[in-house]
Amino acid sequence: MISDALKRRSIRKLSPALVNRIAAGEVIERPASVVKELIENSLDAGASHIIVEIEDGGLSLIRVIDDGGGIPVEELPLAFASHATSKLESDEDLLAIGTMGFRGEALASIGAVAQVRIVSRTAHETEAHEIRNDGGEIDSPRAAAGNVGTTIEVRNLFFNTPARRKFLKGAGTEFGHIAEAVQRLGMAFANIAIRLLHNGKTVLDWPAAPALQRWLSAWPKEFAAAYLPIEARHEGLQLTGLIGLPELAGPTVRHQHFFLNGRPIRDRIIQHALREAFRGLTEPGRQPAAILMLGVPADDVDVNVHPTKSEVRFRNSSSIHGFVLANIREKLLENDLTPRALAAEEADDPNRATLRQQLADYFRAGMEGTDVEQTNPSAATMAMPASDVSVSPPSLSIAAASAAIPAIQLHNSYLVAQSDDGMIIIDQHALHERIMYEDLLARVSRGPLESQRLLIPPTLPASAAQIALLEQIQPMLRRIGIEADAIGPDAVAIHAFPSFLHRLDPADFVHQLLERGEQESLDLHEEELLHEILDMMACKAAVKAGDPLTPAEIEALLARRHLIDRSSNCPHGRPTTLRLSLHDLEKQFKRTGF
Ligand SMILES: Nc1ncnc2c1ncn2[C@@H]1O[C@H](COP(=O)(O)OP(=O)(O)O)[C@@H](O)[C@H]1O
Ligand SMILES: [Mg+2]
Repeated sequence: MISDALKRRSIRKLSPALVNRIAAGEVIERPASVVKELIENSLDAGASHIIVEIEDGGLSLIRVIDDGGGIPVEELPLAFASHATSKLESDEDLLAIGTMGFRGEALASIGAVAQVRIVSRTAHETEAHEIRNDGGEIDSPRAAAGNVGTTIEVRNLFFNTPARRKFLKGAGTEFGHIAEAVQRLGMAFANIAIRLLHNGKTVLDWPAAPALQRWLSAWPKEFAAAYLPIEARHEGLQLTGLIGLPELAGPTVRHQHFFLNGRPIRDRIIQHALREAFRGLTEPGRQPAAILMLGVPADDVDVNVHPTKSEVRFRNSSSIHGFVLANIREKLLENDLTPRALAAEEADDPNRATLRQQLADYFRAGMEGTDVEQTNPSAATMAMPASDVSVSPPSLSIAAASAAIPAIQLHNSYLVAQSDDGMIIIDQHALHERIMYEDLLARVSRGPLESQRLLIPPTLPASAAQIALLEQIQPMLRRIGIEADAIGPDAVAIHAFPSFLHRLDPADFVHQLLERGEQESLDLHEEELLHEILDMMACKAAVKAGDPLTPAEIEALLARRHLIDRSSNCPHGRPTTLRLSLHDLEKQFKRTGF
């Protein structure tokens, strides 16, 4: 039996008001979307000052005032018409969009789901005019008071779509989204003065400023000066912005702001490139802080893939990825990120005091016998996989940390050696891990790691999700010498395991790998997962703190330090090395006046 609701009705065209209300659902998700659309219109209109006034998180009022070019009175009714825009003239324009708006949909959509008033005046007009749209009912323009520019007021958003209004959060949360939208646009348009008020109180007041200054206004106060500026250009591509030092990386992408040709966007390609550039400098899964402005020739990108234009499609995404990755990575490398060991407040700790005394004694001794020879890096004799990493010139900051200096070992955990401007203290486990990681990466890129067949395949329990993951990553596991497959719905058997991990329990390792992969796989690209697993392997295979090393092993470890880029951090992002300059030491021993 067919219910009444399912009985066929004849085909009719939807009324324009209903069409707009439905379309509004795509563009206008919450008050912040209205704010974004209105500010974009002000920017397109050439405004140099924009004021955004909000009441009750935008639920009762959103007002955007600008001093842009205005809308001539005869065009006011068109502003509310759907698919009416002053920004696109021909089909070709769509391929090279230079304005923030172009779809002619925002005002029509907002008007369909709120009570909207536009007051506008162009420089050629002697008075302003207003026009209202009450949930789709549009009246005629009439004279009003107003300066050159446009003011748009949006009251009672979603008043006629109760289901949508119900989905809104409290005023505080909605205002948070608004503030974020305003900040994002403000970051991209430093030359525009922008002010935001909530319930009459100014919450943001940015005067027109040079870009760097504006970005720093948006940079969280607690991040202070922990940033590196980025500026790069290559074959029509341009990248400017800031990146946060590795220690600012956090659990979410909250502090990542990406812009494409001035438009705030979300983009996994840029996000991935950024994370890759920080690989080894932060713990896995941490999200670096960054404000990145990417400039791409307009016809190399399609911004018309999403109604809110927050997602884009690149014509050549791999060159964009490479460009962003290479430039950020280079910036990180050229800045010596080795943390400085200055913790005077902790000097009261007796163990630390002893350690410091030992270091200082060593350092004094080192200063006396200064004639240092370079060791041959190929003398590496440690129980590490042979490496094809080519011998590159030692980086300057560690040039004098040559293994020829009789490095001592303290507590079987730390190595101490002289550097050109002081001394370095190396965490042997962290450094070994870093070296192993780079070795493994180099070896995997040449071909599968050597593995051992297991005569009696060890088995382990696994969840359905872990088995699905295993099946998905099997080819990648083969590259690192692991062969494993499901034996039934809740167990996995391991048939082969990398030879150099012979000291480990294969079932334990694969279990950990699947657990970790399951947590992260939602978000991980296969290549990233491979790196995570190599991190794990490096960590397990590296000498542990407390394992005694022979002098030859120490020498080899130090010698190889020169071969490894970014060796100042282990793959988990812990520092491998601390540096103390002569100046730092003098300060500690109170030899200077500080
Ligand atoms: N603040 C403003 N100043 C001047 N013109 C505006 C303003 N806001 C909207 N307009 C005009 O109204 C038109 C429709 O706006 P909108 O619906 O956002 O579509 P779009 O921005 O995609 O063109 C714009 O093309 C523009 O001509
Ligand atoms: Mg617009």
